[in-house]
Amino acid sequence: MATWAWVFLPVALLVSVKLVKFVISQISQRRTTRQFVSPPSHWLYGHLKQLLPDESGWPVLKQMMSDFSNYVLQLWVGPFLPLYILIHPDTCRSILSTHEPKDELFYGFLKPMIGDGLLLSHGSKWHRNRRLLTPAFHFEILKPYVTLFSESTNVLIDKWTSLGPGCTVEMFDHLSLMTLDSILKCSLSYHSNCQTANEPSPYIRAVYDISRLFVERVRFVPFHSDIIYSLSPSGRRFYKACDVVHNFSENVIRERKAQLAEAKESDLPRRRKGKCLDFLDILLEARDEDGTGLTDAEIRDEVDTFLFEGHDTTASGISWTLYHLAKHLQYQDRCRREVGALLHGRTTMTWEDMSQLPFTTMCIKESLRLRPPVPGVSRTLTQNLVLPDGRKISPGFQAFAGIMATHQNPLVWEDPEVFDPLRFSPENSRDRHSHAFIPFSAGPRNCIGQHFAMIEMKVAVALILQNFRLELNGPPPFYEERIVLRARNGIWLKLHKME
Ligand code: HEM
Repeated sequence: MATWAWVFLPVALLVSVKLVKFVISQISQRRTTRQFVSPPSHWLYGHLKQLLPDESGWPVLKQMMSDFSNYVLQLWVGPFLPLYILIHPDTCRSILSTHEPKDELFYGFLKPMIGDGLLLSHGSKWHRNRRLLTPAFHFEILKPYVTLFSESTNVLIDKWTSLGPGCTVEMFDHLSLMTLDSILKCSLSYHSNCQTANEPSPYIRAVYDISRLFVERVRFVPFHSDIIYSLSPSGRRFYKACDVVHNFSENVIRERKAQLAEAKESDLPRRRKGKCLDFLDILLEARDEDGTGLTDAEIRDEVDTFLFEGHDTTASGISWTLYHLAKHLQYQDRCRREVGALLHGRTTMTWEDMSQLPFTTMCIKESLRLRPPVPGVSRTLTQNLVLPDGRKISPGFQAFAGIMATHQNPLVWEDPEVFDPLRFSPENSRDRHSHAFIPFSAGPRNCIGQHFAMIEMKVAVALILQNFRLELNGPPPFYEERIVLRARNGIWLKLHKME
């Protein structure tokens, strides 16, 4: 065969394979998109300009839901890429009950921070680690954390008290430091004093840099390219901050391993020294049936995942609950009466208290319904997704379970925009669809930390209400998605110390 043929034939083969794949994907795309009627869109941007990840996007989405479908919306990201937004418990269930992987774009940006921990891994690695990590959230492990949450909340209460009577405070920043304080104690037994330190430690500064720089990256499209980002000053700062966080976790893991080795030799396990077990203890002791444990790199990824997933989410949940209670004083008073009757001024809460705050719990849930800290989760389809009405979405497309949209779907919730905690009374919850209220997602990839989060939120809300009367201050907060749901200009509340 002539020399040119050796070059030409493989190239021609490659091009034809690609062409065939492209044609097949176009046919399957057409087959999928033809089944849905999309709201009118711009020929180039698609729905990108209408679908803003903040409060201004909500009326548009609401209108689309009422005009087109309250089950699934086909929207366009640019001219060619459809995105399926599932906005009803039935359609959310169809995606959340699968093991489809997370989408690479958004979740991929998290990889340098949290590696291949539980949130991002999939397949057999995820299966194994979910099984090994589940005991870390057993109630026997969570029980002593109630004291740690009380401690962190009391530090915050002292800080607020020292600001003087009638001060106005931005909730999220303070609560985010408080939940970081707690998650560091619960996961690593690390007492950072981050709430009171005048200067943040390099580690705390790095955690904050990461959150800020991550949001900047999501918003600035050129930064979506790994090459451009790693060459930019922001990217360099981001990767440096990730190194600081990783080095910190690695050091703690190394030290703990050494301590455990020593303790075993002298037969003095940590738990007998009166310390509660933290997540790191569980991760170090986790074993497969054949006795294989997690590697140091896997433990580090899981620790970093807990730190990342476990503080701003909860801070968002507490901030919005306090906001709703400041807005609806009758419910705030009712919660305070409930807390007062239980605690009688006690400043440390117990595990048993957790089931004794039914109305406060309803208020937290109603706030999670209206302002879920994680407003939606997305998946890349690897096989057909069959919707309850028989329509199919082809592999390769993105399906987004709209948690917030489902929580406000008028087919499911009466007067969805009204804050009404009694929706969560036992009688009113009895016949509710299992996927109507999904702040912690649902199905196999649901939030492993949901009980931890609910306990932390109950402790914080109860102790804060015991100490302060909360009043609105300034215009209503305008929500936006910044990894978690936050308020653009903060949630500012006036605090009146209770006598
Ligand atoms: C109010 C607080 C919280 C909310 C609203 C929340 C919400 C969620 C949601 C919606 C998911 C699913 C994400 C997805 O599918 O992409 C998730 C997953 C996860 N959450 Fe949470 N979360 C909260 C607190 C926590 C806490 C405190 C921890 C750990 C201490 C935690 C650890 C995780 C982990 C590890 C996953 C991944 C689970 C898996 O894929 O197997 N979360 N969370």
